[in-house]
Amino acid sequence: MQYGYFDDNAREYVITRPDTPYPWINYLGSEDFYGLFSNTSGGYCFYRDARLLRLTRYRYNNVPTDAGGRYFYIRDGGHAGGDIWTPSWMPMKSALDRYECRHGMGYSRISSARNGLAFSQTSFVPLKDNCEIHKIVLTNESNADKDVDIFSFIEFCLWNANDDMTNFQRNFSIGEVEVEADGARIYHKTEYRERRNHYALWAVNVPVAGFDTDRQTFLGLYNGFDHPETVFAGKANNSVASGWAPIGSHHIKAHLKPGESKALVFVLGYCENPDDKKWEKPGVINKAPANALLDKYGSPESADKALAVLKEYWDALLGRFSVDAEDKRMARMAGVWNQYQCMVTFNMSRSASYFESGIGRGMGFRDSNQDLLGFVHLVPERARARILDIAATQFPDGSAYHQYQPLTKRGNNEVGSGFNDDPLWLICGVSAYIKETGDFGILNEKVPFDNKDELADSLFAHLKRSFDYTVTHTGPHGLPLIGRADWNDCLNLNCFSKTPGESFQTTANFESGVAESVLIAAIFVFTGPDYVEICRRTGREEEAEYAVKAIASMTETIKAHGWDGNWFLRAYDAYGHKIGSNECEDGQIFIESNGFAVMAGIGLDDGRAKKALDSVRERLDTKYGIVLQQPAYREYHLELGEVSSYPPGYKENAGIFCHNNPWVTIAETKLGRGTRAFETYTKICPAYREDDSDLRRLEPYVYAQMVAGKDAQCFGEAKNSWLTGTAAWTFVSISQYILGVRPVFDGLLIDPCIPASMKGFSVIRHFQNAVYRITVDNSAGVEKGVKSLTLDGKPLNGTVLPALGDGRTHEVKVVMG
Ligand code: BGC
Ligand code: NOJ
Repeated sequence: MQYGYFDDNAREYVITRPDTPYPWINYLGSEDFYGLFSNTSGGYCFYRDARLLRLTRYRYNNVPTDAGGRYFYIRDGGHAGGDIWTPSWMPMKSALDRYECRHGMGYSRISSARNGLAFSQTSFVPLKDNCEIHKIVLTNESNADKDVDIFSFIEFCLWNANDDMTNFQRNFSIGEVEVEADGARIYHKTEYRERRNHYALWAVNVPVAGFDTDRQTFLGLYNGFDHPETVFAGKANNSVASGWAPIGSHHIKAHLKPGESKALVFVLGYCENPDDKKWEKPGVINKAPANALLDKYGSPESADKALAVLKEYWDALLGRFSVDAEDKRMARMAGVWNQYQCMVTFNMSRSASYFESGIGRGMGFRDSNQDLLGFVHLVPERARARILDIAATQFPDGSAYHQYQPLTKRGNNEVGSGFNDDPLWLICGVSAYIKETGDFGILNEKVPFDNKDELADSLFAHLKRSFDYTVTHTGPHGLPLIGRADWNDCLNLNCFSKTPGESFQTTANFESGVAESVLIAAIFVFTGPDYVEICRRTGREEEAEYAVKAIASMTETIKAHGWDGNWFLRAYDAYGHKIGSNECEDGQIFIESNGFAVMAGIGLDDGRAKKALDSVRERLDTKYGIVLQQPAYREYHLELGEVSSYPPGYKENAGIFCHNNPWVTIAETKLGRGTRAFETYTKICPAYREDDSDLRRLEPYVYAQMVAGKDAQCFGEAKNSWLTGTAAWTFVSISQYILGVRPVFDGLLIDPCIPASMKGFSVIRHFQNAVYRITVDNSAGVEKGVKSLTLDGKPLNGTVLPALGDGRTHEVKVVMG
């Protein structure tokens, strides 16, 4: 069953009933201030770092699910009695005469109605300002006058989300607020008296009848969000929180004649003061930054204008790559939603979603590098800055902090380093950036190692150390040592963990110096040639020669020790035993090494590539995508680690781990098998499963990290939507390898590989300050091959469009055959 539909013209997903099979969320915010926003107005917001600077509280794993957000309670019908309801459905689960939630690019709008009173809530974070705006419009659609009471409600978080959920002996005594304008402006200033120089603001642009800032007073100690005492009593208490749980609630009265509307603008903002300007007078915070925000967004018109600016911003961004094709599901995913998700993964890495609590992982070295692949064409300047941040967390020996905190940009000591694939992703990310922009200058940027300025060297030096790290850390077969894990965080071959609760990844208690990864070898062969090109194009011929030899030798090593007969092996464990081999009982074949080796071109010359992909298809493919390995591990294996800890069919233990499905898609295009490539693309693509939402459960407009595999009880059910490398890699697979518009060092390569039945498509691509309108004609019905290509009417020699950089639009006609 479907719970909504795509409105392609508006670039919105329209949810038509509130009780979706899981909260279906959107992200508000573009750069520093972010909100997670569900279809029933649940969620929370934070400034830059979901762990350290969280403005509003959110209880993960709560019952009922998704309780807490920006809520508006309506009391329709005067002060005695009246009809009390919540127009976003939650938290009261009110029966609604109408309901719709439109998730758009950086904004959401919930519209509903009950008993002749219509409500709409438009929520977004304006560009460049650190606040959420919630514009509310109430309309009297009945024939009689209405007296309406509106109560707003948000619950403040005491900043550090981890402490906020754990340290109650302190927290219940530190909460502080200030109230101004009779309660229209509520300030949350916990810890401002001592070391913080920031506070939060919850304000409305109209006079209020009252306010509350103490949760217990507003709700009643034994009540949930669905039964706030104050709303039922019909009158705010003007409570000023002292300790316990500070909240923000406004009570507004409105009189509406038939047909009349009233608009209110709520601002939920983050404000910072310089240390010497913290106070207006003793004990009173300096409101200057809050006043500036409220002056700017003090009217419905100014809110509308800010939303229009946000929409223009997204029009321009998505204009950089758009698709027109008969297959609307592919076109809307590739042209809109997939790119939108790439922006979100770029911004969030793996920090905050409805599955990532925002207090665990910060930015991942591996993850953020891969996220760049799907993002770099959107805002190359931000990709550049990110690359420099990531590279600064590399160690002098080329290894890297596995994670870093976005706020401090410093590597995270608790997790440390030792994930031996990490260094190579830097080469991958930097190459993608240079191919997109032509900016070789980035290689000369001085970047610290280990965040220490005194250790700074050029970005190129970072790449060299990445490359060398793999060359110099090999095991008995000459394959790269895996370290704590490679891409598959759960292949913990040097952690023999028996102790419940201990980290599979960071407890390296069996440093074998033996366990090797075929995947890292394949990543090396895939990304190495880009390193060679970078060397050549910057006059480092000798280094290029050295790299070519190292890549050739790694390729030989894979062929000699990484091949199992019908597919590529996955790894060798700490005893030198094979993983991902026919000889194994479980875990005989893995997707990662096979996808990546073929992407790297290994075995294209001798039939192994085809054999490997055919084996993947035969053994791992399902109707919902390709599972990570087979047979699933039935028992826990001390020598393998977390991969065997999951029940069969989930996560890395034979789940459909979507992230590496596109590796197979790309690999299939290497073989020229367009039909098969497209099939692997569509199977995990959420838009193709829209009418299967009861099983899939998660948002039909975004990818999920995992879909339960065939061994699992709920085969086909998705988990962990939004923050996944699937976003970037599927975008690469569809845009660069299936539609085949691929940035290379010399320009834009046109190399489509599509199903024979796809008669053509067109793409508009902005590339290095020129626009290419590319039309592909496949009336020949082939899967790969360009018969002719014209640029502005003239035949082009080859299939690489030069970077014209002239600010103009160019017509490109491609005929396949
Ligand atoms: C998950 C992995 C994830 C890792 C992060 C594991 O529990 O299965 O998917 O990458 O945690 O630390
Ligand atoms: C999710 C992690 O974020 C990513 O870094 C890892 O590669 C995959 N899980 C596979 O374990």
